[in-house]
Amino acid sequence: MELSGNGFLLRAWQPGDEISLQKHADNPKVSAFLRDRFPYPYTIDDALFWIKLVKDQQPLTSFAIVINGEACGGIGVELFNAESRINAEIGYWLGEAHWRKGLMSEAVKLVTKYAFEHFPLIRIEAGVYDKNTASMRVLEKAGYVKEGVLRKSIIKDAEVMDKHMYAIFKED
Ligand SMILES: CC(C)(COP(=O)(O)OP(=O)(O)OC[C@H]1O[C@@H](n2cnc3c(N)ncnc32)[C@H](O)[C@@H]1OP(=O)(O)O)[C@@H](O)C(=O)NCCC(=O)NCCS
Repeated sequence: MELSGNGFLLRAWQPGDEISLQKHADNPKVSAFLRDRFPYPYTIDDALFWIKLVKDQQPLTSFAIVINGEACGGIGVELFNAESRINAEIGYWLGEAHWRKGLMSEAVKLVTKYAFEHFPLIRIEAGVYDKNTASMRVLEKAGYVKEGVLRKSIIKDAEVMDKHMYAIFKED
């Protein structure tokens, strides 16, 4: 399964992506707005762990963002279960070298469409930490709407922050 964008490809993570993954992920400007499970520094062991975890994923929910043959970022949906199984969370990051070229706005649209087509979802949500105006803009450009702000719900690098909740619905 591959999804094609303008100047990039979304495909499953595969062995051989570790070096480029580590190179692009090892950046405090990337990890600053991601969950703590995305570490900084990002070591080659972290890359090996990630690829091993997702390389044979069935169904496919985590995509590598591939530019000129190199895995430069990631995007995926985390499917919720039980009574929340109609809902999922989208998450994404891109190596700084490729920022501000419109890539993520398109990637979020592609993965949102993929997720609604392949899983019994009604809703997809995203939680954006305070000050991440780039990510808020990405979501808005992909059709997500801000639902509210979970005040002081995140602590990142000792700073307490708000989380801005966005969502899109299948019928939108
Ligand atoms: C957030 C991120 C994914 C944006 O990716 P991108 O490919 O650069 O985004 P796009 O080029 O599609 O830009 C989308 C919009 O955001 C704006 N934008 C991008 N970077 C910006 C920045 N640093 N500051 C302000 N606006 C920014 C763009 O101008 C564009 O808006 P416009 O079309 O109205 O001009 C990328 O910066 C990143 O990976 N950041 C670190 C990880 C992260 O924050 N992930 C999301 C967690 S919720």
